[in-house]
Amino acid sequence: MAETILVTGGTGTLGRVVAARLLGNGREVRVLSRRPAPAGTPYAWRTGDLKTGAGIAHAAQGVDTIAHCATGSLGAGDVAATRTLVDAVRGAHLVYISIVGIDKIPFPYYKAKLATERLIENSGLPWTILRATQFHDLVAALTRVQASLPITFTLKGRFQPVDVREVADRLVELALGHPASRVPDMGGPEVRDSRDLARACLAAAGRKKPVVAISLPGKAARAFRAGANLTPAHADGKITFEQYLDEH
Ligand SMILES: NC(=O)c1ccc[n+]([C@@H]2O[C@H](COP(=O)([O-])OP(=O)(O)OC[C@H]3O[C@@H](n4cnc5c(N)ncnc54)[C@H](OP(=O)(O)O)[C@@H]3O)[C@@H](O)[C@H]2O)c1
Repeated sequence: MAETILVTGGTGTLGRVVAARLLGNGREVRVLSRRPAPAGTPYAWRTGDLKTGAGIAHAAQGVDTIAHCATGSLGAGDVAATRTLVDAVRGAHLVYISIVGIDKIPFPYYKAKLATERLIENSGLPWTILRATQFHDLVAALTRVQASLPITFTLKGRFQPVDVREVADRLVELALGHPASRVPDMGGPEVRDSRDLARACLAAAGRKKPVVAISLPGKAARAFRAGANLTPAHADGKITFEQYLDEH
């Protein structure tokens, strides 16, 4: 019987690319989503909710590998959601996408990611965890969401944005391989000041306005300013932020 790979969050920014890249590898590709299957989907679709547990047993049945890309709106429920997933599977290789620096930057979302990593490590399942830096999409969204303001605000610090297609390629490689525990971090090709990235985003939209970096108090913002979200030794991505902006 063909190997079955379940992609949680297979409708999300990362998961949808992971699912598409897994097609054609001779495996059954299942997508888990809270929504019903769209017409003509090429996936073995499973409607389920990791928050309530509805449909998860059916989604996890007979699965060999899971690319776990689902995340809730603010992430606070991600630990419980992952517990639901872990409890539903039997012996599957669990591949998890995490974020560079979550052990050093105590943002609430990052604390939940770290707790989720620990849960997976202690789950008894074979596992692989990849930490990536912020996706281009997220960094661009931080500026785009302020489109109606006369000033663009950024968090004082730097980003090393990475293209989601390259992260998906790496995640697929890991999902098709053997369990590898924590693998080396993955970052984008350039470390850039947050103001510089905001200006690039504005320029791509043909706009010009002041960009102001805010220095927030607290340990998390301090760690971010110190660059704990970066991995310059693993600047593996090739697609720059400007290349991404050209395409979007
Ligand atoms: N964004 C970044 O910069 C970045 C960087 C590094 C790592 N990551 C990590 O990459 C992962 C994916 O991020 P993303 O930006 O692709 O997320 P996203 O676009 O917000 O997608 C979230 C996905 O989670 C699913 N989901 C949410 N709640 C669910 C629930 N209760 N039950 C089942 N599915 C649920 C959604 O599916 P439906 O709505 O269809 O149900 C959706 O497909 C996250 O773990 C994130 O921490 C992100």
